[in-house]
Amino acid sequence: MTPGAADGGAAGGAASHLSRLRSRHLLSAADLTAEEVLLILDTAGAMREVGTRPIKKVPALRGKTVVNLFFEPSTRTRTSFEIAEKRLSADALNISAATSSLVKGETLADTARNLEAMAPDIIVVRHQASGACHMLADICSSRIVNAGDGMHEHPTQALLDLLTIRDHKSTFAGLKVAIVGDLLHSRVMRSNVVLLTMLGADVWVCGPPTMMPAGIGRLGVTATSSLDAAVDGADVIMMLRIQLERMSGHFFPSLREYHELFGLSRARLARARPDVIVMHPGPLNRGVEIASDVADGPYSVILEQVSNGVALRMAVLYLIAGVTEGVD
Ligand code: CP
Repeated sequence: MTPGAADGGAAGGAASHLSRLRSRHLLSAADLTAEEVLLILDTAGAMREVGTRPIKKVPALRGKTVVNLFFEPSTRTRTSFEIAEKRLSADALNISAATSSLVKGETLADTARNLEAMAPDIIVVRHQASGACHMLADICSSRIVNAGDGMHEHPTQALLDLLTIRDHKSTFAGLKVAIVGDLLHSRVMRSNVVLLTMLGADVWVCGPPTMMPAGIGRLGVTATSSLDAAVDGADVIMMLRIQLERMSGHFFPSLREYHELFGLSRARLARARPDVIVMHPGPLNRGVEIASDVADGPYSVILEQVSNGVALRMAVLYLIAGVTEGVD
């Protein structure tokens, strides 16, 4: 497989002959090179085929143990990691904060050290603190995969978003991608900005001024609080969830007003290109950041993102584990 070939070499670099990732962990999108991103996307493309078989299983991670350590709620990420692990024949187990000894006061570091004493190969971590996965990578010898850390990054979400975009668009270079909503609290936005700018997309971020992260322009994006400007001629519109659970103050007067100014309606969508795709990482606040008839409408690829999550996470686990065979 030739990573760059899948994008005609236009997606941020020449064709590569990489077969593995440099890092033992996947902590941040910023740790990846363009070649590695294309390797992951191409590997995910191959993994998709496994999901079409009558017996959806390959032996690639047979004998490997993967722990899914989730300290925050999750539907899509946790489930797709577990399905991915099972399709790769890994021994997968799930630990949630509510049913672990964390409720008795055990620290994250002690929890990780105790899990590690049972010799897992990979630990997939979601945590409310930015940097939690980096901390675990420093103290654990297991390979760590970031499944979302606080307001920092969600690299596998951004990678599955890229896989979905690539299914619909011939190249990332020059593509106008509008990322709209609660920018301040969004780890999905941060990981997507890193990867999309790396591959040459024209990235616009749009949200209320109160939710515009300081210095965002330095990330190579166009920042605006005009939804019309962001959506005008967009090839891809990625709507973000309002993260009420991370807000301690008032960032906008009311949800109704937020929808008026920053919600994606059919009327607003008409400003985009005729072949626009509409994305959302989920879960949706219907009627707030996105109207139901847009979320369920013909331009929406939201459920394709969810499907792609399984193949993408199979690819990440396979490459992180460092195996080179067993996908037959
Ligand atoms: N996109 C995403 O991270 O969804 P979950 O919180 O359900 O995992």
